[in-house]
Amino acid sequence: MSLDGKVAIITGGSRGIGKAIAHSFCQAGAHIMICSRSANSINQTAETLVSQGYSALGIQADVSSKSDVEVLVEKTLSEFGQVDILINNAGITRDTLLMRMKDDDWETVIQTNLTGAAYCTRAVIRSMIRQKEGCIINISSIVGIVGNAGQANYAAAKAGMIGLTKSVAKEVANRGIRVNAIAPGFITTDMTAEFSEENRQKILDLIPMRSFGSVEDVAEVSKFLASSSAQYITGQVIQVDGGMGM
Ligand SMILES: NC(=O)c1ccc[n+]([C@@H]2O[C@H](COP(=O)([O-])OP(=O)(O)OC[C@H]3O[C@@H](n4cnc5c(N)ncnc54)[C@H](OP(=O)(O)O)[C@@H]3O)[C@@H](O)[C@H]2O)c1
Repeated sequence: MSLDGKVAIITGGSRGIGKAIAHSFCQAGAHIMICSRSANSINQTAETLVSQGYSALGIQADVSSKSDVEVLVEKTLSEFGQVDILINNAGITRDTLLMRMKDDDWETVIQTNLTGAAYCTRAVIRSMIRQKEGCIINISSIVGIVGNAGQANYAAAKAGMIGLTKSVAKEVANRGIRVNAIAPGFITTDMTAEFSEENRQKILDLIPMRSFGSVEDVAEVSKFLASSSAQYITGQVIQVDGGMGM
């Protein structure tokens, strides 16, 4: 699957799933712009990719800030001339039961995971419409489909991303732009590293394939959806979850 010459923005590209997507898109020939809140870590990830001979740039940008998102897209357009692919991957958790959840935990998770994706989508859509081509992939979660105790804010944001995906897919399908979502199950990253052994075992019991997924599992599906192999696929949610959500 080739992404030769395509320009991709990957939010939250400094580590975990976003970093794996960045690496796999680079290998497929794309030019990539990655962002995260930490300038140090995004620059380090971009520098590593450049040192491997790839075309990559990093920028410090918080997707929950409209002005940061505007700068992210402007910088991509000025450096690479176009945006063909947007991966809305940046995400955070602030887990606790809803009855104990602070307003700030609710608002920050919704603002980052859902509103941030909407800001980024809106910021790229005009240029994609102008070039009559584009692909947007929203990294949702299985939790947005089946829910999870202790993650009402996160699950609501991830379910919201699915509504965002299907609505925008309908708005822009006739403009040559495809919008899809990926719903990963439990993937081994910093986000899942803090689970206790007991918690881990409980989760494994819920996964028919009896293992956590890898970041590459999500990156491969992202690459497929971004490629011309998926040219007739839009408005879909692909679960990458070892069968957890079936
Ligand atoms: N791991 C899983 O099991 C799993 C399962 C389902 C879905 N997901 C989703 O997959 C995505 C990636 O998860 P992950 O496990 O790779 O997480 P991770 O290892 O914690 O990485 C998150 C990335 O997002 C960036 N980020 C966080 N908030 C941001 C913001 N406001 N603006 C810009 N960048 C931001 C982080 O960098 P900074 O901290 O420097 O900003 C980092 O690069 C998330 O949306 C997550 O919800 C993960």
